[in-house]
Amino acid sequence: MKVLVIKSSPRKKGNSNTLADQFIRGAQEAGHEVQEFDCARNRVAPCLSCGGCIRTGKCVQKDGFEEFAPMFVEADVLVFVTPVYYFSCTAQIKCLIDRFFSIHFGEQRENPKVYDKRTVLITTQGQPSLNCTLPTMEMYKDIVNFCKWTDAGQVHALGVLEPGAVVGTPYMQEAYELGKSL
Ligand SMILES: Cc1cc2nc3c(=O)[nH]c(=O)nc-3n(C[C@H](O)[C@H](O)[C@H](O)COP(=O)(O)O)c2cc1C
Repeated sequence: MKVLVIKSSPRKKGNSNTLADQFIRGAQEAGHEVQEFDCARNRVAPCLSCGGCIRTGKCVQKDGFEEFAPMFVEADVLVFVTPVYYFSCTAQIKCLIDRFFSIHFGEQRENPKVYDKRTVLITTQGQPSLNCTLPTMEMYKDIVNFCKWTDAGQVHALGVLEPGAVVGTPYMQEAYELGKSL
């Protein structure tokens, strides 16, 4: 299967990217082809709500989303990776998600590949209670239902504040095993 891992932390070697790398190791060992897109490093601007995609078939903005869109369409599995920022996902990944509109309402809207996907959510947060991650889990669930995708599993690392804090925790094995189980 083609697996597309979407990273979104400005900390290149932070906790969420570390878990994503564990997931990738498992997925590769299971024989899957893994691609990565880092929306903290490839600039993806917010949706302009201009209707350009409805008129022309594609998003009219010229940025990192041009590279992302074909990767998205081809992927069998999408892996959303985000730290919790103020009870939500990062702005970087939310900008990317909002731009899915141009795929759902553009020239790819009847392509079955857009809807035939399994998805994964990996999050990290500094506080020990799941409370801070719940809104992101809820948003993910609603997006998965709206897009007719299928959740293939989730890892939510709690109490990991400093970069590297996730190393040595059981979340590392959890992420690896989820990748391997695809
Ligand atoms: C702007 C900002 C907002 C944050 N908000 C929360 C929060 O609401 N709840 C929480 O538990 N941790 C919060 N954190 C801590 C991060 O979620 C935590 O450090 C996480 O492991 C960072 O992941 P990363 O290393 O992949 O960037 C916040 C961190 C930043 C920089």
